[in-house]
Amino acid sequence: MSEVQTKKSVLLVPTIIVVILAALTPYINDTYRSLSQELLKKQLQVSVVEDFLKDPDFIAKVNNKTLWEACDKISSASESRFWYYPENEPNNIFEELTVKIYKDTPYWKQATAYEYWCNINDSSMRSGGVVWHTDRDEEVLATEHKLVFPIMGAVFYGYNETYEGGDFYIIDSVAFKKGSRSAEYTDRCDDKYGFCVSNYNLFSSNLANEALFVNTKFNTLLYANVTHFHKADRVLSGKRYALAVNANGRRPKNIEKAPSDDEMAMKAKGPLGNTVKTYENLSIRLGEAFV
Ligand SMILES: *[C@@H]1O[C@H](CO)[C@@H](O)[C@H](O)[C@H]1NC(C)=O
Ligand SMILES: *[C@@H]1O[C@H](CO)[C@@H](O)[C@H](O)[C@H]1NC(C)=O
Ligand SMILES: *[C@@H]1O[C@H](CO)[C@@H](O)[C@H](O)[C@H]1NC(C)=O
Ligand SMILES: *[C@@H]1O[C@H](CO)[C@@H](O)[C@H](O)[C@H]1NC(C)=O
Ligand SMILES: *[C@@H]1O[C@H](CO)[C@@H](O)[C@H](O)[C@H]1NC(C)=O
Repeated sequence: MSEVQTKKSVLLVPTIIVVILAALTPYINDTYRSLSQELLKKQLQVSVVEDFLKDPDFIAKVNNKTLWEACDKISSASESRFWYYPENEPNNIFEELTVKIYKDTPYWKQATAYEYWCNINDSSMRSGGVVWHTDRDEEVLATEHKLVFPIMGAVFYGYNETYEGGDFYIIDSVAFKKGSRSAEYTDRCDDKYGFCVSNYNLFSSNLANEALFVNTKFNTLLYANVTHFHKADRVLSGKRYALAVNANGRRPKNIEKAPSDDEMAMKAKGPLGNTVKTYENLSIRLGEAFV
């Protein structure tokens, strides 16, 4: 073998390896991404149940725009949330759904109250999506300065209308605080509580791989540990009808009573002063039609 030939074959082997690696890179990236998404699902207690409702009669009952529009309208007015106590018979279709969502999960035994609300979202929504946040008991935070998180969160997409966008994202907030990543909050944040809890901008060079992404669609149920930062993308076209149900360990104190003037004044002054919530009995507001 001449010296020139030896040099050539010495170069050939690394060249072949580089070519093979280059060809494999998209595959390796995809595999890495789907593995990390699977890992994130476990970490964040996320599970996705497609075709959640099976009974065609019940699907037909749920797939009724009037019900969703009424629930959304009341939920949106003064950010109302509704509570269902598992010892009661369900009073409306959304409480029936709450039972179906949680009855066969380990959370049913732990939860003492379920908080639920509806959102109908389209591309015209001024918010342009829900920003990164965690779910917590706003009332306890405002009045007792304590962070109380739900045991588990769930979202059910319940009216069959085609839409684009509106996907769900969740990220490990504990891990996120480490390393070069940072969270910038726009309001509702106080060091007193140990860490910041709402309305974040998250910065990381690798957010796409660190966040778990769920493509939402009709009759899909999504469970997620909403103690972690999560958000919903803006809906790009069509409308997305969602019911959110959180399982709570602690029974809210002020159920079914509007805050007094004193309470309102206190909240207005408090560190989270812009947070005012009223809890109501959805069945009363919706009336007979929805029971
Ligand atoms: C959906 O609509 C609700 C009000 O009904 C709003 O609070 C929320 O930010 C909207 N979400 C998105 C993703 O636009
Ligand atoms: C939802 O609507 C689409 C289009 O109308 C239809 O093809 C599909 O079967 C519906 N899905 C269910 C589960 O009813
Ligand atoms: C949800 O996440 C928090 C924070 O990591 C954790 O303390 C809690 O145990 C998780 N909840 C469940 C039901 O696994
Ligand atoms: C809510 O209202 C319905 C209808 O008036 C009533 O039957 C039910 O007991 C109320 N629920 C609670 C928790 O008070
Ligand atoms: C939808 O729900 C409303 C309120 O309960 C009811 O009056 C109406 O008949 C329902 N529509 C259909 C198509 O079932």
